[in-house]
Amino acid sequence: HGCDLLVVGSANADLVTAVERRPAAGETVLGSDLAVHPGGKGANQAVAAARLGARAALLARVGDDAHGRLLLDSLRDAGVDTGPVLTGGTPTGVALITVDPSGDNSIVVSPGANARLTPADVRAAREVLASAAVVSLQLEIPLETVAEVVRTVGPGTRVVLNPSPPADLPAHVLAACDPLVVNEHEARFLLGGPPDAGPEPGATPGPGPYEEWARALLGRGPRSVVVTLGAAGALVCGPGGTSLVPSPAVRAVDTTGAGDAFTGALAWRLGVGDGLEAAVRFAVRVGAAAVTRTGAQASFPTAEEVDRL
Ligand code: RIB
Ligand code: NA
Repeated sequence: HGCDLLVVGSANADLVTAVERRPAAGETVLGSDLAVHPGGKGANQAVAAARLGARAALLARVGDDAHGRLLLDSLRDAGVDTGPVLTGGTPTGVALITVDPSGDNSIVVSPGANARLTPADVRAAREVLASAAVVSLQLEIPLETVAEVVRTVGPGTRVVLNPSPPADLPAHVLAACDPLVVNEHEARFLLGGPPDAGPEPGATPGPGPYEEWARALLGRGPRSVVVTLGAAGALVCGPGGTSLVPSPAVRAVDTTGAGDAFTGALAWRLGVGDGLEAAVRFAVRVGAAAVTRTGAQASFPTAEEVDRL
């Protein structure tokens, strides 16, 4: 394979402010000084993997503007192959992020250039797609673009998908996922979201109900499912059964991008031949390291830092 991991997805400038609490409708609160960080679920995954040592490339679209340059610099610093990144025409995507004292975040994404990554762009990148051991996808680009990636990759390429933000997935996309990677919000959405389908978001996760969720998701067609449980680790679910992989205990400062670091690391380890459970064991440590620092890409660890955890 020409690269271990090709990420097809978004690149955003993250405009971040810390708040004591989030405003309710019609309310105004003051936040901290604004920080501008490179982010976006696609770029985050590629940076996380490259910083760990992966041969990673990104197919994405940014604007010909300062935010686009911020992203290209961050990607190149981490060692991501930015050859497939397309530039120009529209502003770079922006994410408006508030972080609360517990390190939890709320995000609104204005897609900008991400919305202009088209199926034709995917077809033009056919050779890069064919050269990747693993292709990793999220949903901050158009769903028809994601669907085109799944149609275009060869049988030798494994597909990893994190359906974030959640959307209904075509059957051929779900069937390609190996694994489908979801957090509790995404799992709840895909399962139809009745409030009694499992614990409320934010409840202390135990493996019990989540195991049922994972098996129910597996029944929808993916080849395997990983449910991320934040501080509790991740559930791995495949034809052979379900297992809980615990996370090391860390002090959460900012969880922004930790899920992307997890998925980027997971996809890379699968691309270099790890089994699913071994890859998840590695990835939970990468995600844990990422929550201990502020920002998305800036908080992602090197391989040495992961070894120390
Ligand atoms: O998952 C975190 C990311 O979501 C942020 O970097 C932001 O850009 C949004 O895409
Ligand atoms: Na972080």
